[in-house]
Amino acid sequence: MRASAVAQPNIALIKYWGKQDVAGNIPAVGSLSITLDSLETRMTVEFDDRLGADELQLNGEPAARMLPRVSHCLDNLLGSKRAPAAIESVCNFPIAAGLASSASAFAALVVAASRAAGKQPDTLSLARAAGQASGSAARSLYGGFVELQLIEEGGSPAIAVESILQENAWPMQVIVAITATGEKPVSSSDAMKLSAKTSPFYASWLEHQDHDLEIARSAVADRDFSALAAISEHNCLKMHSVMWASRPPVVYWNKATLACMETVRGLQADGVPVFFTIDAGPQVKAVCLPDIADRVRKALQETDGVIDTMESSLGGGARLLGMS
Ligand code: DP6
Repeated sequence: MRASAVAQPNIALIKYWGKQDVAGNIPAVGSLSITLDSLETRMTVEFDDRLGADELQLNGEPAARMLPRVSHCLDNLLGSKRAPAAIESVCNFPIAAGLASSASAFAALVVAASRAAGKQPDTLSLARAAGQASGSAARSLYGGFVELQLIEEGGSPAIAVESILQENAWPMQVIVAITATGEKPVSSSDAMKLSAKTSPFYASWLEHQDHDLEIARSAVADRDFSALAAISEHNCLKMHSVMWASRPPVVYWNKATLACMETVRGLQADGVPVFFTIDAGPQVKAVCLPDIADRVRKALQETDGVIDTMESSLGGGARLLGMS
């Protein structure tokens, strides 16, 4: 059986940074994100006993480097006695450049693989399997505004994920300013471990996250854009401060990243409802209300060092495209 699924990346407004259980990849903190619409990863999975081992193609090319992580995710989802899989992944945006390509990839993978194996787990089980491969991927199983919470289950930490507001309930537009292409120098996994071990700000980061989540959750419930903007920028800058204070420091920004932040600040000073957020990479994501998206995009395009911009509205969770 062959199954195809699609998933969109998500952008955290209240960030996941740090793990409490490295082996199970359980985050140290809850997080809140928005799922995008126009960026996507499509995954097709077919299990075939005649294959000697799993095979992965990424945008039509063999992708040996990513294969172990993908195989591990399939083992977690279906058990290691499963048949070998042929996996095809097609992604319409740059990979490993701080655009959450692993989130959409693993979310699409768990949906396609479970269906190709004749199984139909509930969404939370799929989210947990995706989250084991990449923490942020758990959120891409859901659409709109999504919250990931930490819970205790049978004496162990686990995640619970839910959509707290559907994608059409409070439309937003996200403009991504690409300021560099190519892969990031340090993976977010490695950078998180370094932060936990060496950053003097890490303990404070953990301590204040629930408060930030509470503020963001209320802002979403009240559709209060300026409250959401303020807490999102604060949380983003705090996460980067944790990284900057690590030893050695982890700095994902470049000159254009800062220039984009200044552009957003300039728009805000003119009363434009927009805010920025930045993940483990140099790209800047500007979140705004749809009616001013053209103005925000133009301002970012004209910012020094911006190579390109992409735009997306909010989208739904990972879903099956078809089976054959
Ligand atoms: C900065 O989900 O990529 O984007 O679990 O190690 O794969 P792993 O990390 P990953 O980290 C995402 C970090 C972030 C913030 C976020 O998306 O919440």
